[in-house]
Amino acid sequence: MKILVTGGLGFIGSHTVVELQQEGFEVVIIDDCSNASENVLDGITAITGKRPQFEKLNLRVKEDVLDFFKRYPEVGGVIHFAASKAVGESVEKPLLYYENNLNSLIYLLQCLSKKDNSAFIFSSSCTVYGQADEMPITEDAPVKPAESPYGNTKQIGEEIIVDTCKVMPQVKAIALRYFNPIGAHPSAEIGELPIGVPQNLVPFITQTAAGLRDQLAVFGDDYPTPDGTCIRDYIHVVDLAKAHVVALQRILQEESEGNYEVFNIGTGKGSSVLEVIESFERVSGNSLNYKITGRRPGDVIQAYADTSKANSVLGWKAKSTLDDAMKSAWQWERKIRKQPY
Ligand code: UD1
Repeated sequence: MKILVTGGLGFIGSHTVVELQQEGFEVVIIDDCSNASENVLDGITAITGKRPQFEKLNLRVKEDVLDFFKRYPEVGGVIHFAASKAVGESVEKPLLYYENNLNSLIYLLQCLSKKDNSAFIFSSSCTVYGQADEMPITEDAPVKPAESPYGNTKQIGEEIIVDTCKVMPQVKAIALRYFNPIGAHPSAEIGELPIGVPQNLVPFITQTAAGLRDQLAVFGDDYPTPDGTCIRDYIHVVDLAKAHVVALQRILQEESEGNYEVFNIGTGKGSSVLEVIESFERVSGNSLNYKITGRRPGDVIQAYADTSKANSVLGWKAKSTLDDAMKSAWQWERKIRKQPY
């Protein structure tokens, strides 16, 4: 079966394409290359031995989306990653974020609703929970008002899918709420490629160790946590990619309950910023230059997943440790510094 992966050249998308191909799916990628390089196709091909089909197009252009589905009637499922994801930028340019992230979703769902049967996997985020009242966070935890237009596009995106699924039983969807994806493929053929100064912790750590940044700022050590730094659930991107494949298979094998489901995808284990730094130092043998600075506005104190629903219903569980993920992130960073994309 052929699966459309939108944003398939991006960080999570590219790893998911690899897992899909390794499970025997054919893949066609749509990406506008606004935040990713076409060279990622070479990385995917080096791992799987099979070059996915690729269409460079912008999902905000409705005619192009309609035209794509006319040209690829064999597409039986869609995994939708394509979206803008910089939290700070979304505050500066809210309309761009709403336009990018919501129009593309609407056009895809409009096309899928014309098919007899279609599977749709949506990239959602633990950001929908805000600062949850209880840890670990279950899927039943209330969705809190979004902190940013980016977060709001994930919440509204889920609502658009829920409303669509209510009246269109032919659309079968699963939303995956990711916790913090990190790491890279163990082959070091694909990984995270942030443009400019990384906003996320792990690429900032590896770029600092590689000499691209002088120092990591640890945003606050006065939080009510054991070591005072914030706690997150860092999940290896390969584990996360595999979750997409099992979610898709659940829909295709008609095992879903109803036609809309939501799952948390994390490890279930919280790690503090200092623990992430320690893990990096352990696996890399480097001592990281960092200093404690003030809190970053908008950061939640802690967020880690209750993954029991994904474990029992999807039969999926994260396998990699934080050390595995940090090691792969470091291998990738060293490789791209020697051999830039
Ligand atoms: C961020 C986004 C979230 C998005 C997720 C995707 C924000 C507020 N949230 O989550 O919406 O879904 O990325 O991966 O941007 N940290 C430092 N120094 C740094 C960078 C980060 O100390 O230079 C700390 C942060 O304070 C936080 C932790 O590291 O405690 C993780 O930060 P980050 O990687 O940016 O992820 P989130 O903020 O959890």
